[in-house]
Amino acid sequence: MLYPIYLIGYMGAGKTTVGRMLAEKLGWHFVDLDDAFHEIHGLSPADYIRTYGVEEFRRKEKYVLEDLAELPIEKVIYATGGGYPCWEDNMECLKELGTSFYLRWQPYHLAQRLALTNLKERPLLHGKDAAEILDVIRPQLEARVPYYEQADYIIDAPTAIDGTIDITADEQLADILYNRIINDDD
Ligand code: S3P
Repeated sequence: MLYPIYLIGYMGAGKTTVGRMLAEKLGWHFVDLDDAFHEIHGLSPADYIRTYGVEEFRRKEKYVLEDLAELPIEKVIYATGGGYPCWEDNMECLKELGTSFYLRWQPYHLAQRLALTNLKERPLLHGKDAAEILDVIRPQLEARVPYYEQADYIIDAPTAIDGTIDITADEQLADILYNRIINDDD
C-alpha cells in the first residue's frame, strides 16, 4: 500500500475523528487539511469561502495538499476537506500520491450526524434540523459520489441493527482501516 493515507468523504463522515484515532493506533502523524489550510492562509475554509469564493478556495486547497505531500514523511493520515476530491484532477492526484479511503454513509445518516455537530462553520446548514439538512445535502452528495467512489478503498460505515447511527461507528471505522493497513502485503 502506498503511503500516505487520505481519508475522503462528505462533511460529517468522520474524516477528522477517524483519522485521529487511526493515526494514534498506528503511531503515525495526523493532519487535518482544513486546519492546515487555516494555518497557511490565516482563515478557516468557511471564512475563506465567504471572503474569496469557492473557486479560489479550491485552487488554494489543491496546493495545500500537494505541497504537504512533498514532505519526506510517509506515515501520515490526512483528513481531506469534503469537496477536495471533486475538483479538477484532484482524485487522480490523491491516487498518485498515496492510498485513498472513502468513508461511505447513507445521506440520511450523514444528515443525522451533521445535526449533532456545531454547524456555525457550515452556514448552509446552520439552524436546520436533520430533515432540512438532508434536503440540502442530498443533491450535492449525489454529485460528489462518483468522485468519492474512485477511492482505492470504499469503507461502509457501520449502522446499528435498527438502522440508527451506531455511536461507536467512528471507532469501528478506525479499527477497520487499521486492520486494512497493517494486514496489507503490497
Ligand atoms: C467543504 C468541506 C469542509 C471544508 C470546506 C468545504 C465541502 O471540510 O473543506 O468548508 O465543500 O464539503 P469537511 O468535510 O472536513 O467539513
